[in-house]
Amino acid sequence: MVLKASSLAPADTLQILREAFPWMTVWRDHRSYRTGVWRCVVDGSLENPDYTAYRPRTLDYHTDMSRYLRPPEFTVIRCVVPDPHGGDNLVLHVDDILRRLREIDRKDIVTTLAMPRPLLMDERHYNDGRVSIGSPVFAPLAVEGDPRQPCRIFDRHAAFKGSHLRLSPEHEAHFDEFIAECRNQTDLSVRVRLERGDVLAFSNWRIMHSRLECQGSGRVTEISMGNETELS
Ligand SMILES: [Fe+2]
Repeated sequence: MVLKASSLAPADTLQILREAFPWMTVWRDHRSYRTGVWRCVVDGSLENPDYTAYRPRTLDYHTDMSRYLRPPEFTVIRCVVPDPHGGDNLVLHVDDILRRLREIDRKDIVTTLAMPRPLLMDERHYNDGRVSIGSPVFAPLAVEGDPRQPCRIFDRHAAFKGSHLRLSPEHEAHFDEFIAECRNQTDLSVRVRLERGDVLAFSNWRIMHSRLECQGSGRVTEISMGNETELS
């Protein structure tokens, strides 16, 4: 969903979260999200940015924090400074692209995505107290039609700390083809242009997002994430 700035009282991102999504528990498991808000400033002059999103280039389809045992259920993006011409966001429901893949005879990709495979976590990624640290965990990249199943679509070409799930060379090729189809099947995605103060919120478990190339430096967004349900 998109909340236009005109419908929001001037406030900071956490205040907007509290008012617009009072049921949401703010996610703070990653060091960049300790305050509940990560500020992403696009800066083309950085040679080795800490995060790929700081670069102006297009960000491919992904879900956030897919290496965590329990990725946040929702992502909220608030525009602080828009890029004059670029930087639009795209959102794409995983069920829509998986259905399309079957229609175009790429069930092989659907099958690869649905296979449980080792989740390659460090200690800090065990953010669900019901699973002890170090226990092996198997998870799929994406399954169709299960709203309680997080998708784990990471940008494997930008993941400088390695793959989030174990993939064979054949499955890496399928994963790349999947991302290419996400890009190609443009009728399935929704393109969102955020102006100053606008907020985009979506399920991080079932909806992938991408960002088109920015014209240059200066685009600023604040990202928050959250859960609907507390862990029992
Ligand atoms: Fe993201």
